[in-house]
Amino acid sequence: MSKLSVICGKASEDLGRKLSRKIKGNLVKSDVRIFPDGESKITLKGIISKRKSVVVQSIYPPVDTNLVQALSLISKAKETSSEVIAVIPYMGYARQDREFLPGEIVTMKVLAKLFKGAGASKLVAVDIHSLIGLKHFTIKSKNVSAVPDLAAYFKKLSLKDPLIVSPDQGGKERAKEFAKEMGIEYIALQKKRDRKTGKVQIKTKKADVTGRDLILVDDMISTGGSIVNATKFLKKEKCKRVFVACTHALLMNDAENKIKKSGVTKIVSANTIPGKTSIVDVSNTIAKAIV
Ligand code: R5P
Repeated sequence: MSKLSVICGKASEDLGRKLSRKIKGNLVKSDVRIFPDGESKITLKGIISKRKSVVVQSIYPPVDTNLVQALSLISKAKETSSEVIAVIPYMGYARQDREFLPGEIVTMKVLAKLFKGAGASKLVAVDIHSLIGLKHFTIKSKNVSAVPDLAAYFKKLSLKDPLIVSPDQGGKERAKEFAKEMGIEYIALQKKRDRKTGKVQIKTKKADVTGRDLILVDDMISTGGSIVNATKFLKKEKCKRVFVACTHALLMNDAENKIKKSGVTKIVSANTIPGKTSIVDVSNTIAKAIV
């Protein structure tokens, strides 16, 4: 029997399977029944290694359900394995990593305690919203970047004078890394989000993008507000095509249609969240962080 088991949560079946092949792990699948009251009943199918288990489960909607499933898988793995690595490709709650308004609960702090309490000794995330989120963990933690995998996809396209654009200043470093991978330039727009309503506005007045193909790079798309506003602004500045590259495509509330309607040619995301746009595989990148 393999010395390592890869326990796949329902939210990350495909990525988990790919990862288990890459690290030559023994695949353990989970069967999940959701009871009428919303509770998850999980049954594992496969043999758990005594030495080491890797639990793979993204925390996308239904967020709390997928979170409880991740914690349950870790807890079950720890009953047999002496070491449990939690791979959380999309870390839900990562945007709640600090107190923005007085009284707000820093939920990432709670999650850090829960992962440790369940039995994880290491956590691996992909493009966590901000590294501040990982500071709350007292177990080992590592963030890996999907940017090289996403950039490799875009390198194969034939683009006109391409330019990387971050929709906000917070994403500047990501845009810089993306641009370096592709050997091209980048810019970062100024975005303002109302912390109460969530409404987004682009504050940049001018951008020199005339006739160029643009790649808008972000860690995640939730409602699509950031991408839609950035695209409308860039189109007004007379760019050619706008492509979107993001790691986590949540695409809530018809975001995909809204983004397409704003003039985006194509959305490309990583397979941290399964979906139509999730065409870039990051299992190799995760595998390197585990072995
Ligand atoms: C924000 O700082 C993030 O990097 C994303 O830009 C944001 O979370 C995307 O959310 P939405 O799609 O709702 O604008």
